[in-house]
Amino acid sequence: MKTIKLAIAGLGRIGKIHLKNLCRNFPEVDVVGVMDVLDESKNIADEFNVNYFVKTIHELIALPDLDGIVICSPTDTHADYVEKAAKAGKHIFCEKPLDLSLDRVQEITAIVEQAGVGLMLGFNRRFDPEFKKVRELVVNGSIGEPQIVKITSRDPGPPPVEYVKVSGGIFLDMTIHDFDMARYISGKQVKEVYAKGAVMVDPEIGKAGDIDTASIILTFEDDTMAIIDNCRRAVYGYDQRLEVFGSKGMAQAENNFPDNHKLYTESGVSGALPLHFFLERYAASYNQEMKEFIDALVSGGKMPVDGNDGLMSIAIGLAAKKSVKENRPVRISEII
Ligand SMILES: NC(=O)c1ccc[n+]([C@@H]2O[C@H](COP(=O)([O-])OP(=O)(O)OC[C@H]3O[C@@H](n4cnc5c(N)ncnc54)[C@H](O)[C@@H]3O)[C@@H](O)[C@H]2O)c1
Repeated sequence: MKTIKLAIAGLGRIGKIHLKNLCRNFPEVDVVGVMDVLDESKNIADEFNVNYFVKTIHELIALPDLDGIVICSPTDTHADYVEKAAKAGKHIFCEKPLDLSLDRVQEITAIVEQAGVGLMLGFNRRFDPEFKKVRELVVNGSIGEPQIVKITSRDPGPPPVEYVKVSGGIFLDMTIHDFDMARYISGKQVKEVYAKGAVMVDPEIGKAGDIDTASIILTFEDDTMAIIDNCRRAVYGYDQRLEVFGSKGMAQAENNFPDNHKLYTESGVSGALPLHFFLERYAASYNQEMKEFIDALVSGGKMPVDGNDGLMSIAIGLAAKKSVKENRPVRISEII
């Protein structure tokens, strides 16, 4: 089998996860190079015996015989790196979001298409075993006709305000995963978004122009709905639940816990808190999304999450922002 040569841009929280998975779990892959602006990141590259550590995207893309690039750098670099990689004929895996501007996302998805390279978006939750099972139950008709999707997505704590300022806001940074999940789990397109938001966790987030708590109703083209609730802080940890209610029943995915023990005493019943945050909760999904990216590279088949999925999640996010601002439901056709 041909070795697939990949390179990674950005070795922060998510870049390290992909580097570790690619090096440890995929013998058919050779991570030939990594790029980061920080000198310290070279130590991580050395730990995994990566041959080249470079500091610019040009050097990374120019590495010999490279098949593809995995983009894990900050959000404001994604569009530029996708464009450069596509024009150099490299396949691309890119973390969400593609960009904060819809025009720019449309521009780069067109460039990718023209270049004839694959582009996969890092909507890892689609590859989570629990959510995949719920999707399977929806597809095989176990719950009949889906009527309501419910997604609860709450972080254990807010990110630093400096991060909030450049993140694109809660809808494009955090809820974007839920918008994609709503589309994936239902297999339907969203036609309207009605969102309400508030600052209930940290006034500094409000001063930075964002909200930290939100409720959103998405209406699909057939008038069925998804209801999403978000908060930047849940005191009991990472709260990630999903439910699809249909004409013949309901399918649910509950939180995942480090263990299932329950302590029963005269004062009550207690157990472990949910897995703390995304690196723990979604560990399996990060590995599986890389597997499916590599499978698509080997087979030359369609990427499981493509540029259009990236585009639609951003359009829904922008509609949600507009909905909060104007206090009214916003149709996707007003955005895209
Ligand atoms: N899919 C997910 O679950 C998930 C989770 C977290 C983050 N993300 C996304 O991944 C991206 C990175 O997030 P993170 O949490 O790993 O951030 P991070 O801050 O932990 O890491 C970013 C890394 O990129 C490096 N960097 C900075 N400027 C760079 C540049 N111009 N070129 C290359 N590297 C550069 C930094 O030095 C750092 O090592 C963001 O776009 C974020 O939205 C996705």
